[in-house]
Amino acid sequence: MRGIKPASLAVLVSGTGTTLQNLIDRIAAGELPARIAVVLSSKPDAYGVTRAQKAGIPVEVVNRKEFKDPEVFADAVNARLEKYDIDLVVLAGYSHLIKLDKRRNIPAINIHPALVPAFCGKGYYGDRVHKAVLDYGVRFTGVTVHFVDEKYDHGPVILQEPVEVRHGDTVDSLRSRVQQVEHRLYPTAIKLFAERRLEVEGRKVVILPRRNDQ
Ligand code: GRF
Repeated sequence: MRGIKPASLAVLVSGTGTTLQNLIDRIAAGELPARIAVVLSSKPDAYGVTRAQKAGIPVEVVNRKEFKDPEVFADAVNARLEKYDIDLVVLAGYSHLIKLDKRRNIPAINIHPALVPAFCGKGYYGDRVHKAVLDYGVRFTGVTVHFVDEKYDHGPVILQEPVEVRHGDTVDSLRSRVQQVEHRLYPTAIKLFAERRLEVEGRKVVILPRRNDQ
């Protein structure tokens, strides 16, 4: 990874933080040119907070329950991120809409455990997604990494990969196979970002070829 400046990340969590842990591990293994400048949690007791603390990463908590208005909450999140030098906001099991920081021009990405635009949008998160996939009877689900816009699971798609639904699959078995793909795809997308190889043209994301110094 010669010549790549590590991307400085703000990782936003609301839950157990398996996505966060994977990023921490990949960075430690030297596989991902990034540093996590801050982990922000919308829940004080999220296990993601503990994972961040164990890794010595600064933690900010903006408790969603203390805000009536989602807009005011989103502003409070941005205000808390202001003191950090960040290149990319990474949503990692974060259950709320965010406001993009247009003044600082910081993009945000999300990972969704299905093939967007199927089984996504408000109310489709965590195991609800896998249950809906199984109930519908589709043959394939998968993983989507996308830029964030003002709607749930809606911005331009960066990477997608299908996962086959097998006869007899349960929410647990499906989640486990989807997560294996998630744990590969999210670091891949962040690496492409760090390498400045993602170009957004309307709804399309163009992946530029690797440069000679990369
Ligand atoms: C993953 O399925 C991811 O796609 C979704 O949140 C789940 C992981 O949550 N956005 P966590 O990282 O274990 O908290």
